[in-house]
Parts: sequence; structure tokens; C-alpha cells
Amino acid sequence: MTAISLTVNGHAVSAEVEPRTHLADFLRDQLRLTGTHLGCEHGVCGACTILIGGVPARSCITYAVACDGLEIRTIEGFEDDALMAELRDAFSREHGLQCGFCTAGMLISARDIVQRFPQADERRIRTELSGNLCRCTGYVGIVNAVASVASRQAEPAARAAVAPPKAAARPAPVQSAPAAPPRAEPPAASAPETVREGWTRIDESFVIAAPPATVWQALADFPKVAACLPGAELTEHDARAVKGRLRVKLGPMAASFAGSATVQRDETAMTGIAKGAGTDSGSRSRTRGELAYRLTPEAGGRQTRVAVTVDYDLQGPLAQFSRSNLARDFAGRVVAEFAANLNRALGAGDAQPAAAPQSLNALGLLWSVIWSRLKQLIAWCR
Ligand code: FES
Ligand code: FES
Repeated sequence: MTAISLTVNGHAVSAEVEPRTHLADFLRDQLRLTGTHLGCEHGVCGACTILIGGVPARSCITYAVACDGLEIRTIEGFEDDALMAELRDAFSREHGLQCGFCTAGMLISARDIVQRFPQADERRIRTELSGNLCRCTGYVGIVNAVASVASRQAEPAARAAVAPPKAAARPAPVQSAPAAPPRAEPPAASAPETVREGWTRIDESFVIAAPPATVWQALADFPKVAACLPGAELTEHDARAVKGRLRVKLGPMAASFAGSATVQRDETAMTGIAKGAGTDSGSRSRTRGELAYRLTPEAGGRQTRVAVTVDYDLQGPLAQFSRSNLARDFAGRVVAEFAANLNRALGAGDAQPAAAPQSLNALGLLWSVIWSRLKQLIAWCR
């Protein structure tokens, strides 16, 4: 058993859980918060959607131990929330529910949508809600309900009226793990200045123990790049375009994104940008993205810093994983593995390039993320 402390609906909670206990089971069985429903238990239907650190997430594929120190909000935690009250009324008025099994998760996703996209049209609402399945209502009423609240949210007076209640009204929460320190490196030069609405940006950087010219050449060698990226498989390529597949496993979820990208490189500035899109036919998740990178010399030109900025938009059942802090940490681990492999491929490390794993073992990486967060928390508590 593992001891965890977290904040659930504003209340500090401490408990002992099995490492394999999913958050949904912990909430339902130990805390008796049965408003969180379980449908598929495979991260597909969205019935178990709750907020973890303010971001919608699947509680059926999230381990309770991974939430140590975090803030959880379930459907029971929205009793005094004016925006949620509006959504509940709208769902009722627009016939957005029948049996109600999906409704808790649907409402939590809907609230997130109207907060992020107050100008959302029907297409945007349907796209953003695509990770929440309803087996009996037919979606028209649900979409109408969300649209009616979103349009009201676009009015400044309405936004002020549904401002969240003051934190002082709640019991003192357990302190979350400290945020990672801001990175000093600027974003890659060719990344767009602003992030598109609904997209997520991740900035990372790493150092390769080789001069910029060598790294620049290596990054143009697409088979070499694919061999260094865990889970990647290249099926076609020429000087400016690639086609391939990226395999990811996250607990019970396995995704295999097939897609293509075009690559533009600026030899003078040593910057590049890859723009692409992919689809996982299994989960029906789709992604579009841009990866911009920039090389700068370090250590008198003997080393190269590679600054990477990734902008992406993920739609479908996997979308709720994509905006969480864990996803950012996870991306950091992927970049670190890529950098280590590229160092070895260039003879800058201690061995020949490791064979790329057949799939990106997200679960293993996720555990290392969780472990590093625990260490952060322990250091912070001292
Ligand atoms: S029960 Fe969690 S996504 Fe279906
Ligand atoms: S209202 Fe029955 S599953 Fe959505």
C-alpha cells in the first residue's frame, strides 16, 4: 500500500492505496464519490472524466498514486459553481440527457470547452466533445446546450457572473507539487509567436556533444532521426517530406498514429520546421502539429543546443491526456531519450545507437515522471 495525500473538491484527503488502484475506483469505493461513472474503463468513453489540476482527464486510466499532491475536482465539487449550474440547466432545457450515465463526464468536458472557447461554434463543440460518448441522446441536444452557454460566456458580463468562488471559502488544500522551473532557453526561432486557439505548446531543449554542422546534417537524415525517436517508424521519405507511424502505449491505451509531414530548413539560421498530421484508427484520435527547432553552438562550438517547440492539436479520446502537466513531463522524457539516442548515433556518447523500441513505452516513462514528481515534492517539503 502507498500513502497519498490529495485535495478532492477542496478537501484535504489522505489515504493508503494499492499502486494499481485507479483514481476512479479510489473516488467511488473509498471516498464514495459515485458521481464519477465508469463505462469502458479503457479511456475511450469519457464517462469518468474529472478535473486533475484543473484539466479534464480520464480517471479510469489514471493511477491514484500518480495524483499524490494534486487537486482533484469531481462532479460533486461543482455544487456552488455558477457556470456548471448554467450548463445543468441548459442540458435539461435542451434535452441533452436521457439515462444520464454520460452526463457527469459530459458536463465537466462541456464546462472546460465553454471556458476555453467562448466563441465556440457547433463544429468546435463537436470536435472538443468527441472524447465523450453518449449512447442514448444523439448529441444534438448536448451540442445545443453547450452552444447556448458558450454564447452567453462570450458576453463580458456573463463571464464576470460565473467567476469561480473565492478560495478562502474552501478548506486549506494540500499543497501541490511545485511547478517545474521556467526554462531559460528561448523557443525555437521558426515557431509561430502565438499558440493557435485550442492548440498546446511544449518547449524543450537538449544538448548534443557535437558541433552544430554535424547535428544539422544528422537532423536532415530522416532515417537516422526516426531510429533515434522511440516508437517511430519511417515508411517513405524524400528530401522534404516523410511518411510514417508513431506507436504509443499508455496503460490499456495503445495508439498508432499514421501520418505525414513536410520539412522546411533554413541553412543559414540553422532552423527547421516540420508540419504534419496523423490519425490513430484504433481510438479515432487525430492530431495536427508543427515541430520547430533551432541549433545554437555551445562550449566554443564543440556542442550544440537544440531548442524544440512543438505546437499540436489532438482530437478524439486521447485528447484529454494531451493537455495535462503529465503530458508535458512525458514529452520532456521523450526528448531526453531522443537526445541520448542521437548522441550515441553521432558517436558522442558511449555506444552505437540503441535500436529504437518498437513502441514508445508511455507507461514506463509515465512512472519515471511520477517518480521525479514525488522526489520534487519530498525536496519541497524539507
Ligand atoms: S470509463 Fe473512463 S473513459 Fe470510459
Ligand atoms: S444520456 Fe444516456 S449515455 Fe448519455
